[in-house]
Amino acid sequence: MKKPKPNESISKTRLSKLLRTKKLGKTIYVFDELDSTQDYASSLPNNESLHGTIVIARKQNMGKGRIGRTWISPEGGLWMSIIIIPDFSISDIIFTQFIGSLAVADAVFENTKINCKLMWPNDILINGKKVCGILTDVNAENEIKKIVMGIGLNANIESPSINNYLTDDNLKATTLREEYGKDIDLVILINSILERMEYYYDSFLSCGNTLEIVDRWKEKSEMFGKKAIVYDGNQHVMGEIIDLDQNGAMLMKLSDTSIRKIMYYNNVSLH
Ligand code: BTN
Repeated sequence: MKKPKPNESISKTRLSKLLRTKKLGKTIYVFDELDSTQDYASSLPNNESLHGTIVIARKQNMGKGRIGRTWISPEGGLWMSIIIIPDFSISDIIFTQFIGSLAVADAVFENTKINCKLMWPNDILINGKKVCGILTDVNAENEIKKIVMGIGLNANIESPSINNYLTDDNLKATTLREEYGKDIDLVILINSILERMEYYYDSFLSCGNTLEIVDRWKEKSEMFGKKAIVYDGNQHVMGEIIDLDQNGAMLMKLSDTSIRKIMYYNNVSLH
């Protein structure tokens, strides 16, 4: 496969021509560099016509990760934020996170035949190392609510450049280049991600089909049966991850055999 030159790798014109989605990617912004696609997308005024808008930067100078972490985003990675104007209750936001990670895992499989694994709440792993993280920001202050889903996929880059900055000691980073052995065409990958995301999103909205999403997530996760620690503010509890319920809460069995529900905003790490 021809190695895409970083500057050619994400072309708005090529992406628009390729996309067959109905709503996702209807408006596309591609920047050479931004501080953060997440901040840019969040700064756009809430408006229904924003639904499906995507913001991509070839490089981010101040990429944001979960829980206030920095996200290292050199050229060659896929740094993209997708705006969703939800017509579902914000309490169901966990499903948008599942939809995002399932779409990325499906798209990576479609293009490389690599089977990614999912880790709570929305990390995507290959061979036990993190290749992608998803960050979901919600702006619910206005009448029109806005969800910004940021996807950070370490694609055509080298992992040492990221690992040197990692603050999460439990999880090392990897990249698609390292796992696949060659570079991947980012435009084709984005197209696959958006198609899969629209598929899951439509099925969730039209039939309230959370079961398929929960089942697919369970299939792709290796967390069940493992010991984990859940952090809730300054407190933490340890237990065994046993299931994911239909509302998207993770169920954990504590040592006194009681069951604790873990919500999407709780941080979990495997023990
Ligand atoms: C995580 O900590 O696992 C989530 C990382 C999310 C990174 C992406 S890159 C595109 C978007 N813009 C950002 O500044 N962050 C997200």
